[in-house]
Amino acid sequence: MASLAETGVESVMVRIVANRHLPAQPQSLQRRLRPLLLAIVLMSCLLLPCWLGATPAQAATTDGARLFEATCAGCHPHGGNIIRRGSTLKLETLRRRGLDSQAAIATIAAAGLGQMSGYGAVLGDAGVESVADWVWQQALAGWPRG
Ligand code: HEC
Repeated sequence: MASLAETGVESVMVRIVANRHLPAQPQSLQRRLRPLLLAIVLMSCLLLPCWLGATPAQAATTDGARLFEATCAGCHPHGGNIIRRGSTLKLETLRRRGLDSQAAIATIAAAGLGQMSGYGAVLGDAGVESVADWVWQQALAGWPRG
């Protein structure tokens, strides 16, 4: 009887101990994870303006490159010309033809030239400007990214 009572007491004690520790464990896990979660949330809050800020800052070049790739590169790969081989977008050619400026390239991009039709309707005013700017920068730099 005595030993049974002892086991009874023991099991109650075990249950008390268990009850004390069981709910405590997930709490301490949460407590340990909280700074990590806080750090992640803080980091993304800090990074968000960087990401948002990077987009407009790079828009001019990235947009021009993207628009050139989508609209012009089919006929002007690497600043060349697959239809009229001599009519390239290389600095030397553009200079020879008096097209050596962002403005002259923009006019052709929008309205076309000879065999080339205009892309003003496709690109829009801002698109014409940024693609012409990108083409001119590429010409000046020797088409490193053609
Ligand atoms: C469907 C083919 C085609 C596409 C697309 C095209 N071009 Fe052209 N491009 C030509 C041809 C052909 C010429 C030569 C026109 C001529 O002299 O008769 C030319 C000439 C030019 C010239 C004058 C170059 C020179 O040496 O005389 C520029 C600048 C130019 N293109 C820019 C662009 C830009 C910018 C785009 C994209 C918005 C573009 N082209 C899209 C075919 C194309």
